Amino acid sequence: MASAGSTLLLWLLLLLQSVAISTASSRGIRVELKHADTRGDFTGTERIRRAAERSHRRVNGLLDTGISSTATLKGDGIEGTATVHASTATYLVDLAIGTPPLPITAVLDTGSDLIWTQCDAPCRKCFPQPAPLYAPAGSATYANVSCRSPLCDALRVDPSSHCSAAERGCPYYFSYGDGTSTNGVLATETLTFESGAAVHGIAFGCGTENHGSTDNSSGLVGMGRGPLSLVSQLGVTRFSYCFTPFNDKTASPLFLGPSAAALSTAAKSTPFAPNPSGGGRTSSYYYLNLEGISVDDTLLPIDPVVFQVSPMGGGGFIIDSGTTFTALEERAFLVLARAFAARVGLPLASGAHLGLSLCFAAPEGRTEAVDVPRLVFHFDGADMALPRESYVVEDRSTGVACLGMVSMRGMSVLGSLQQQSMHVLYDLEGILSFEHAKCGEL
Ligand SMILES: *[C@@H]1O[C@H](CO)[C@@H](O)[C@H](O)[C@H]1NC(C)=O
Ligand SMILES: *[C@@H]1O[C@H](CO)[C@@H](O)[C@H](O)[C@H]1NC(C)=O
Repeated sequence: MASAGSTLLLWLLLLLQSVAISTASSRGIRVELKHADTRGDFTGTERIRRAAERSHRRVNGLLDTGISSTATLKGDGIEGTATVHASTATYLVDLAIGTPPLPITAVLDTGSDLIWTQCDAPCRKCFPQPAPLYAPAGSATYANVSCRSPLCDALRVDPSSHCSAAERGCPYYFSYGDGTSTNGVLATETLTFESGAAVHGIAFGCGTENHGSTDNSSGLVGMGRGPLSLVSQLGVTRFSYCFTPFNDKTASPLFLGPSAAALSTAAKSTPFAPNPSGGGRTSSYYYLNLEGISVDDTLLPIDPVVFQVSPMGGGGFIIDSGTTFTALEERAFLVLARAFAARVGLPLASGAHLGLSLCFAAPEGRTEAVDVPRLVFHFDGADMALPRESYVVEDRSTGVACLGMVSMRGMSVLGSLQQQSMHVLYDLEGILSFEHAKCGEL
């Protein structure tokens, strides 16, 4: 039982926190997202191959993470298992943590919730990162999260378990499908965005034992549907992003809160599908109802069940920022690939060097001359007609043009290539909207 004094303190803290957040987000926050590969000097072929490799790792991670999958813990002082999450995301965000603000780069992930950074508290195991490590002792705004906090409860694998009185802080262990993991304590800090907007009391993982890597960045910012994600903690009801074209190195804007302005009346909207839950946990993913796919004007014979969440909580179709190439459940991919190849009518070519499975030899190597059918994804209440550059990947050096989608067993994911040049608005009350846009100008 909490004493009256500590209950009052909690209320005061919550009040202070909400005041701080509402000040920062009265006009919302604009953040620039950088593609993880824009920092390297990669050729077009390398960029495609890296994106395909990353997409494969990502979708395997997303799949592994189903709501019930868990990893065994190696860290000490923590309960036995932790839920596995997706990783290998594609977009990076610059922000600063603490007081004075220390700049860090983190992976932005719509497929998981926790915000975390490598932490010198001291660090027992940290992977190399280009920026200095964040050290709680050097920050005036660091605070430990109590084991009894609702935020700590949100981390627990077994929601019925409770912290023992002996435990003072909130230890966590978070593991991702690609083998990356972080282990430390949950704490709160001030985060400052590039625009200067500061938000206080944001819970994050101060990771003192981290394995794997996060694409040369210092940690991760979760944007999923659970209580620990940045959007949930900010209490914003909407966010939007607009990815610049795959071959364009311009940063992509992300808007949090009121600045995620309403789209035009031409925008299409579809409701999010309910998140599957099981074992007391709810999935972090953003599920959509995909009802069918058309090639030119022909609706493909795909059983819509392929895209639905199964009664056991598996499968389904999600929208994701961390996967580049849309992954379709293999039964759907095969039907699409067959219809697509029949329309294109060119000899098939190997796409093994790119990591893509449906490729065509362009006549005289002129990939831009490859004539492809129109492609429409039919969501519940909204047709998404894709422009050519959102599903045709051209490798000019080998004269090969490919369908920029991959096959996956178990579930389907709408990737960022298919969302490029589209302003995508997540209304967290339950609706996804999208419209074509010049993302570099928003
Ligand atoms: C947070 O908890 C750790 C370990 O329990 C302790 O060493 C540290 O002093 C605490 N920091 C603050 C600011 O309370
Ligand atoms: C990390 O940075 C180094 C040096 O800039 C670069 O060689 C390497 O490819 C980068 N790794 C990733 C995963 O981006």
